[in-house]
Amino acid sequence: MSREELLNGNAEIVRSKVAAAAKASPNAVIIIFSNPMDAMCHVAMQASGFPRERVIGQGGALDSARYRYFIAAELGVSVNDVHGYVIGGHTDTTMVPVVSQTRVGGVPLTDLLPAEKVQAIVARAMRGGAEIGELYKTGSAYFAPSAATIAMVEAILLDQRRLIPCSVYHQGEYGIRDVFSGTVCQLGEGGIQRTFELPLTDEERAKVVAAAEATKELLKLLN
Ligand code: LAC
Repeated sequence: MSREELLNGNAEIVRSKVAAAAKASPNAVIIIFSNPMDAMCHVAMQASGFPRERVIGQGGALDSARYRYFIAAELGVSVNDVHGYVIGGHTDTTMVPVVSQTRVGGVPLTDLLPAEKVQAIVARAMRGGAEIGELYKTGSAYFAPSAATIAMVEAILLDQRRLIPCSVYHQGEYGIRDVFSGTVCQLGEGGIQRTFELPLTDEERAKVVAAAEATKELLKLLN
């Protein structure tokens, strides 16, 4: 089952649970990882009435971790020294690993691996969730999503001001408005303190815009 196929079933759950949580904790920060995650962030924002700083989607942290791990494994280096982000949407087709800005020990990834190897890593990272689901046969990943969510919660609770890719309600980033999509966000006290707009190639930018459009189209299917 694709993430998108979960749309209305999960929307009903997210809508009711978030409304109740927001009523009980009106100053809370909401982190959404129910799928389709970017669309569920819209449901959560509407159900809570919270500002964009306090409705955050968890997908980019997970996708970026997979992307960085696959690079580290290919190069035989520590994942701690691979710096790269996956932004855009959190679906198999709308994720955007930002290859042009990916560095390994400060060296551009494209100086270290041939294009076909980079594209294979990008493709595997984009299907990381599906790969795990196929191995489990039922259900989906939970270890890595949990670790990603914990990193976001700690950044907020401890005001760590971490720069983590999250789904955020865009208000002009990459020329995109009024839709949740992934970009690097500063997470600290109160939730999203700042968004960062990565320098992108024309191709990467087009993919980011397409990802936002895909979420807008998916939202039209909400009951
Ligand atoms: C994944 C699910 C959590 O990517 O969307 O594993």
